[in-house]
Amino acid sequence: MSELVQVRVTAGVMTICLNRPEKKNAITDAMYGAVADGLERAAADDAIRVVLFRGEGDSFSAGNDIGDFMQVAMGGGGEGHVFRVLRTLAHFEKPVVAAVKGSAVGIGTTLLLHCDLVFVAEDARLSTPFVNLALAPEAASTILLPRVVGHQRAFAMFALGEVVSGKQAAEWGLANAALPAAQVEEAAARAAAELAKRAPRSMRLTKKLMRDGAALWSQMERENEAFSSQLTTPEAREAFTAFVERRPPDFTKVS
Ligand code: COA
Repeated sequence: MSELVQVRVTAGVMTICLNRPEKKNAITDAMYGAVADGLERAAADDAIRVVLFRGEGDSFSAGNDIGDFMQVAMGGGGEGHVFRVLRTLAHFEKPVVAAVKGSAVGIGTTLLLHCDLVFVAEDARLSTPFVNLALAPEAASTILLPRVVGHQRAFAMFALGEVVSGKQAAEWGLANAALPAAQVEEAAARAAAELAKRAPRSMRLTKKLMRDGAALWSQMERENEAFSSQLTTPEAREAFTAFVERRPPDFTKVS
């Protein structure tokens, strides 16, 4: 298991901690593999009642590692572990909780759409800048985000990369509560512990009735087609190169 993801089980709660703080917990393929392993284990083990996501350091996650994107853009890499994570999440029957501080970019935010209770820092910064990266949205966020916040707000997040504060996210219904950053981890852990005490079958049935896993996975497959077809385009290469060179992308020369 990747050391960059720490998985711990205590009193029925599996905590999956993204542990790459020096890179704002940007997620590599190996890290997705470790997350998928954790989720699959949690799904199969009756003793695990709840999954809690958190990030080490000052950020929840800067999203997919852009170096990994670049590798695919240059023609390397195949289907990554991210799809195993998404497939498992789409059908996941146990409750999932998230504690979010600092930046939550890309899948750092779209993951939250698969969490049942979300606690954010008031000053957290949530964004889904897929068009800025010349990509397409993932994780069924094209259904789930507009459903929660409305089409126009979701579009501004996807297309303009509009950053939403934790406070705003809670007002929009993307999170249960926005709290001072120092209180977020404790609030999420407390909520997860409460969920772990509840009747497990009733919990699973309730969640299953609230989500259509097959529909979510089907949308993820559609999104994946769009995403994969974008990854190798000149505009995506320009976006990734611009990130590495710490400059704004210039899309004027791509058609
Ligand atoms: N992939 C790879 N490396 C990343 C990364 C990512 N998604 N996000 C951040 N990093 C790296 C930076 O390159 C930097 O590395 P360095 O110290 O070796 O130069 C380090 O993490 C710290 O990032 P930095 O940009 O200096 O921190 P910040 O606090 O100024 O900004 C973010 C934090 C998250 C707002 C900013 O890093 C960012 O926008 N990252 C890209 C997010 C993104 O587009 N993700 C993909 C979504 S699909």
